[in-house]
Amino acid sequence: MPQRQAGSEPCRTQVFQGGLAAALMRCLFFLSRLTPPLLLLLLCPLPVRAQAPTASAPSGTPGAQGCPEACACTAGGQANCSGRALPVVPAGLSWHVRRLLLDHNRVRALPPGAFVGAGALLRLDLRENGLRWVHARAFWGLSALQCLDLGANQLEALAPGTFAQLRALRNLSLADNRLARLEPATLGALPLLRALSLQNNELSELAPGVLADLPALGALGLRGNPWACGCALRPLCAWLRRHPRPAPETEALLCVSPGRLTLSPLAAFPDSAFSHCTQPLAARDLVVICSLGPVSFLASLAACLALGSVLAAWRARRRRRSAARRPPRRPPDPGSAPASPADLGRVAACART
Ligand SMILES: *[C@@H]1O[C@H](CO)[C@@H](O)[C@H](O)[C@H]1NC(C)=O
Ligand SMILES: *[C@@H]1O[C@H](CO)[C@@H](O)[C@H](O)[C@H]1NC(C)=O
Repeated sequence: MPQRQAGSEPCRTQVFQGGLAAALMRCLFFLSRLTPPLLLLLLCPLPVRAQAPTASAPSGTPGAQGCPEACACTAGGQANCSGRALPVVPAGLSWHVRRLLLDHNRVRALPPGAFVGAGALLRLDLRENGLRWVHARAFWGLSALQCLDLGANQLEALAPGTFAQLRALRNLSLADNRLARLEPATLGALPLLRALSLQNNELSELAPGVLADLPALGALGLRGNPWACGCALRPLCAWLRRHPRPAPETEALLCVSPGRLTLSPLAAFPDSAFSHCTQPLAARDLVVICSLGPVSFLASLAACLALGSVLAAWRARRRRRSAARRPPRRPPDPGSAPASPADLGRVAACART
């Protein structure tokens, strides 16, 4: 079966068998399992071909090669671990697993490298686990992952970098959680992400930059959040103007605070509505501004001192020079000798008489 067009419906893409990548993965798997590696390196293509016919029949057996004990696996690479009350991600994931259904379990936390070994995973479903905590490196190694569903959990926050490694991600759902904030660094730059579901969370704003590094994003689920109609909504409104109807309900999206703007449609805000908003300051700018006060004070003090001493020196020098240069213009004339105040007084008195 040819692989369906990769982007159109990433979550429903039927996982395909065969192909160069699959052969390579099996090759690596065999190498890791069996002992004489050099011999196997030579024979590697043989087991791959020999295994292909058996793989085409659905096994559906738990604990089959590369299939976690608790799950049912099919030849297509689907591991169905759905609804088995699992408290942790099952061990034994391998390169064979392309689609992991872990929904409706009890996985409350994802530790670092939770899916290590499942590097060929394309789709991961973690809905309805009561998930509260995801380590920033929980998804490390999933460089092929296209579709991640974390919907209907209890997530309140996500660490920076949580999704930054998932460079192939096309569809991410964080819907029906308790997220009150989403930082740009949580998503990072995801060049292929087309659909982001944020509906039914507790978001009142999207930090500037969250949507900036998602160039392929076309579908954005926003409903069911207490959007605040303040300056912080500006980047989102700008994005909405550039992407008409990113979700069917966009026209009906309302912001719910502050009072005077309560229940205004989000998509209807022109940029002029934000003309009173100053550009938000980054932390670095704040540090610069705060240190600018004392630094400029000290600098101006130093400048005044320097200028003052330069001026004083210059004047003293000028005085010294003019004193040195003052020529003995005329021979000293007793009549025109520098008059002391007493002399002047006497002159004035003569004039009066
Ligand atoms: C993303 O995945 C969800 C299911 O997890 C699906 O309902 C939705 O249609 C997908 N979005 C796109 C654009 O493929
Ligand atoms: C996964 O297994 C459960 C039963 O354990 C079944 O109800 C469900 O339909 C299966 N899902 C898929 C996609 O095969």
